[in-house]
Amino acid sequence: MIISIIAAVAENNVIGRNNQLVWNLPMDMNFFMKTTQGHCILTGRRNYESIPEKFRPLKNRTNIVVTSQPNYSDGHQDFEVVHSVEEGIELALKLGEKELFVIGGGQIYEQTITQANRLYLTEVKHQFEGDTYFPSFDRSILEEASRIIQLPDEWNEYEMHFTILVKGSFELNT
Ligand SMILES: NC(=O)c1ccc[n+]([C@@H]2O[C@H](COP(=O)([O-])OP(=O)(O)OC[C@H]3O[C@@H](n4cnc5c(N)ncnc54)[C@H](OP(=O)(O)O)[C@@H]3O)[C@@H](O)[C@H]2O)c1
Repeated sequence: MIISIIAAVAENNVIGRNNQLVWNLPMDMNFFMKTTQGHCILTGRRNYESIPEKFRPLKNRTNIVVTSQPNYSDGHQDFEVVHSVEEGIELALKLGEKELFVIGGGQIYEQTITQANRLYLTEVKHQFEGDTYFPSFDRSILEEASRIIQLPDEWNEYEMHFTILVKGSFELNT
């Protein structure tokens, strides 16, 4: 199973503030929704709760929420609860997933960055104030498989580069 991280990251590595995103970039949101559609997604409890009530669990994907709380519930049905990242990965494997998407936030990226085979990183070409950061990682062991440059437009205020970084042996069409 491929373990993929998907994240939008500012030039100064900020990914969030006050348990929210720090930008409104519909094009990145569309990319996220399209890319993760049909897959298992692994999320920290805080990131999960940052999704507006009416949109969670995210539909057409298996939402796996990591929490230390033994009887976690947010009042919704149809999502899976695990108590460690490893348990989440095992569950995805058991469900027959081919590509698990780790969707954040900071704590969960930190715990999966070394295991990830693929990184879908939207580089947001601006610096932001925040309280949550993407972890540092060794870029030299990853190959840039793709980079699509999107200039700012009426709806998306900042330049974005949609990049896909892969670890050598994982072809993009697997
Ligand atoms: N820019 C992006 O692409 C992007 C993507 C996702 C999120 N974000 C941002 O990231 C921020 C949230 O990230 P965060 O780091 O604060 O929180 P997080 O990683 O979403 O969730 C942290 C929570 O996950 C649970 N957890 C983490 N590790 C665990 C482990 N090993 N075992 C059991 N439970 C574990 C704990 O839940 P309990 O407290 O319930 O035990 C912990 O409080 C928000 O600002 C969000 O907007 C940005």
